Amino acid sequence: MSQKHTDRLGQVIGRVLRGGETIALYGPLGAGKTALVRGIAEGLGASPTAISSPTFVVIHEYQGRLPLAHVDLYRIRTPRELESTGLIEYFSGQTVTAIEWADRGLAALPQDRIEIRLNHRAARSRTIQVSATGPKSDEVIALARIQHSKTSSVHRASPRRALNREDTTRS
Ligand SMILES: Nc1ncnc2c1ncn2[C@@H]1O[C@H](COP(=O)(O)OP(=O)(O)O)[C@@H](O)[C@H]1O
Ligand SMILES: [Mg+2]
Repeated sequence: MSQKHTDRLGQVIGRVLRGGETIALYGPLGAGKTALVRGIAEGLGASPTAISSPTFVVIHEYQGRLPLAHVDLYRIRTPRELESTGLIEYFSGQTVTAIEWADRGLAALPQDRIEIRLNHRAARSRTIQVSATGPKSDEVIALARIQHSKTSSVHRASPRRALNREDTTRS
């Protein structure tokens, strides 16, 4: 995926969210987690330019069609630190939570999550894999897949689906 594709994948996800979803993002520094959240914010109608990695504050809130909480757990080392973020308070209600370094907070995350794994492929190319760990997330991903294939120039140019049955995207 190019930067443009990352943006568009985020936008598509942002447009189909229904509220209350947890989006767990995994992948090394520079893989594009924040870039993808920017796309999600745009898809939600929140200002994407406001999105930057929450460096000192662990959680930033944005308002679009739905509220978005952008969380970065990079600096979280212990269960106690995790608890002190107040993260779990976001998991009820309509707020969408997008969580970078989700592996550092797994114990506190809801069961039903959209999981997105990003990795470096080349200087400007990334692999992005999307999967669901429960029925609510599964529905959202199914919607995103439909929207993505409808609007995808990648899709038209290539017989491989950008979001295929294994919920894996590679391009
Ligand atoms: N295909 C791509 N998708 C996402 N980001 C990309 C891509 N190619 C290059 N980049 C660059 O990689 C960097 C990703 O940074 P960022 O989103 O902050 O990563 P992370 O939050 O995972 O540490 C940005 O500088 C972005 O411009
Ligand atoms: Mg980041």
